[in-house]
Amino acid sequence: MIHATLHQLKVFEATARHGSFTRAAEELYLTQPTVSIQVKQLTKAVGLPLFEQIGKRLFLTQAGQKLLETCQEIFEGLSQFEMAVADLKGMKQGQLRLAVITTAKYFVPRLLGPFCHRYPGIDISLKVTNHQHIQERMANNEDDLYIISQPPEQPDLKIYPFLENPLVVLAPKSHPLVGQSKIPITALNDEPFIMREPGSGTRQAVQKLLETHKIDVKVRLELGSNEAIKQAIAGGLGISVLSQHTIISEGTTGEFAILDVENFPIERHWYVAHLAGKQLSVVAESFLEYLMEESHELAEKFLPNLGRDSLKQQLAKTAVSGAA
Ligand code: PGA
Repeated sequence: MIHATLHQLKVFEATARHGSFTRAAEELYLTQPTVSIQVKQLTKAVGLPLFEQIGKRLFLTQAGQKLLETCQEIFEGLSQFEMAVADLKGMKQGQLRLAVITTAKYFVPRLLGPFCHRYPGIDISLKVTNHQHIQERMANNEDDLYIISQPPEQPDLKIYPFLENPLVVLAPKSHPLVGQSKIPITALNDEPFIMREPGSGTRQAVQKLLETHKIDVKVRLELGSNEAIKQAIAGGLGISVLSQHTIISEGTTGEFAILDVENFPIERHWYVAHLAGKQLSVVAESFLEYLMEESHELAEKFLPNLGRDSLKQQLAKTAVSGAA
């Protein structure tokens, strides 16, 4: 083992986590042969096989499992050390690992700007992914802070709500229901619909509401990205339910209209969360505080379209332009 390097342990840990050389290589920006050579050398140093390959999937052997646990302890120890050093140096440097759900990508980078200006020595890694993948990242303790809009069942989580994240019915400007008010939800029956992928929190919230009201939309297309769904709406493929944040740049002045359907918007919030047992670094704690204290002010600046009243104003605007 004395010949094992930290790099090899990192490569091994990523391979074990993904169960795949290829995906580990992608994550680490290495080639697939480099990853398998590193794992081979580590296996030699350990003297026992670390993986079993069954079909295309890799499974950890008992020795591999033990090594994975050891790696996690080593990396956790090193990151604690890094934090301690960063704390000793004050907020001058450090790393902030954030994982956020897809809708938060419209707002979080705008929040990060002023934060990074304040603390220019900080490195930020921002992962944008859906609800299910965030839960997997939480289970693996991969990040400092998470921005979610649906608190998972996990009890060992500290959660702080910070902003509204309403889900609205988006349609192309030419849709016949544009401009109507208080549209009954039953009008969505048989509407061509574009749905987010399984594992999406948006999808779960939409399905729950539709099921409650026994509404059967016609799912024409399933897409794994809010932006792709917007393009499909603009292309006339159907309507969808998305976070209002997804039209932060264009609002309802562009190609999209928000339909005033009863029971919408689906009221949701963004929460910032961290694992309860997590030792937050000074950087992570400062970002958490910054988010709680300043996000409302920044939201007013960047998201003039949000909030209950402004949603009404937007619907009114849609009604006017829809009637025109
Ligand atoms: P999703 O989450 O990307 O999993 O749909 C977005 C949200 O809940 O706002």
